[in-house]
Amino acid sequence: MSRSAHPAGPRHADVLPEGHYSAPAADLNVLDEKVWSRTVTRDADGALTVGGIAVARLAEEFGTPAYFLDESDFRARCRAWADAFGPDADVFYAGKAFLSRAVVRWLKEEGLNLDVCSGGELTTALDAGMPADRIAFHGNNKTVAEIERAVEAGVGRIVLDSFQEIVRVAHIAQRHGVRQRVQIRVTVGVEAHTHEFIATAHEDQKFGIALADGQAAEAVRRALSLDGLELIGVHSHIGSQIFDMAGFEVSARRVVQLLAEIRDEHGVELPEIDLGGGLGIAYTSDDDPREPHEIAKALSDIVTRECEAAKLRTPRISVEPGRAIVGPTAFTLYEVGTIKPLEGLRTYVSVDGGMSDNIRTALYDAEYSVALVSRTSDAEPMLVRVVGKHCESGDIVVKDAFLPADLAPGDLIAVPATGAYCRSMASNYNHALRPPVVAVRDGEARVIVRRETEEDLLRLDVG
Ligand code: LLP
Repeated sequence: MSRSAHPAGPRHADVLPEGHYSAPAADLNVLDEKVWSRTVTRDADGALTVGGIAVARLAEEFGTPAYFLDESDFRARCRAWADAFGPDADVFYAGKAFLSRAVVRWLKEEGLNLDVCSGGELTTALDAGMPADRIAFHGNNKTVAEIERAVEAGVGRIVLDSFQEIVRVAHIAQRHGVRQRVQIRVTVGVEAHTHEFIATAHEDQKFGIALADGQAAEAVRRALSLDGLELIGVHSHIGSQIFDMAGFEVSARRVVQLLAEIRDEHGVELPEIDLGGGLGIAYTSDDDPREPHEIAKALSDIVTRECEAAKLRTPRISVEPGRAIVGPTAFTLYEVGTIKPLEGLRTYVSVDGGMSDNIRTALYDAEYSVALVSRTSDAEPMLVRVVGKHCESGDIVVKDAFLPADLAPGDLIAVPATGAYCRSMASNYNHALRPPVVAVRDGEARVIVRRETEEDLLRLDVG
């Protein structure tokens, strides 16, 4: 990473404050295609356009803040993942990243499956017509009512997360007279980070059943003994926003080892493994994500190799990318309000949203990029912190970035790569109205999730 504490450029301060930021781009008007969705470009007037529509028009029609989702990019990414893994594997989009009925229909049309992790996500999926057998149901504490609904609907798999749940799902399935297809989620002892992975204490987290000390093997024993369950495989998800494939490779190796142990003990070769999601995307120009075909090749090579060594039939692989599909396809559009230069520090640029539409910066210290998008500018770069309008000093959208020094109230700025875990984690803090999601495609824009209204707030508040 080319981080610099004292980049050249800004004129508003002689000494730049300590910070975690890159030098400003040579030309702030150039949009780095790594972080913007595929149809984003600048028009002849310098305004950003997506799907052929200029942001000024979008802001006028839909207001700000708002998320604009590039539908053709979303669909292209679905296809890229499906093509990369091919017909002998399954791609489950992780709905927690962002889910709406339109998204479900796109997934269905593009041939993807769907991972849901709550009754609400399940309802959205079924309501929009996703065939139940293409749905995987996750969660470390599924309620009995949720399991009932999933079994009744006939979901393709339930991913079992605890010993208690093995029994719970088996009973419910039996009561419904079905054998529920299930996988067991195991924790493989790999915690993957960007550029590194470290072994963790297996027991010290809420998800899954540890491979270590034979817990997972015991879970398999129990699942195989229960009539209500058809154990189809083993599941592992090692983390999120990961660039280094090494963690996935260790995970795949350990999961295959478990399949070999199951074969040796029970004489059955489980037909599937799921390696979860977690593939990283570019939030700033410093991030270099892998392409789906590289990921698919790395995973299938390691699984094939390990299976050959263990003399196992190669299982069908599934993966669950969420962020890697939807993350890069959307940006958040804000209008600039107050601009407050703090001499010797930085300039605080306040926008009309904030931590209620993007909690990731406050919660994970996430890094984002930002650009002036309603026009171009030849002004010098100034170091800014983009903040929201909430009553909290941690209400930061972009911690350190450069915007042109002639930025003015009323300008539109956009934060790219907000498709994943922004709308889905949005809140009503300070009674903010959660922004709409507008799908843009081929010169047409349509609301797929409408903006909340004050009436919505009052309707929930029953007095
Ligand atoms: N599969 C399972 C079982 C998961 O738990 C997750 C994410 C995924 C797939 C999808 O992971 P992805 O490909 O989107 O990284 N709110 C956090 C991310 C939490 C992810 C939770 N599980 C964030 O904003 O970074």
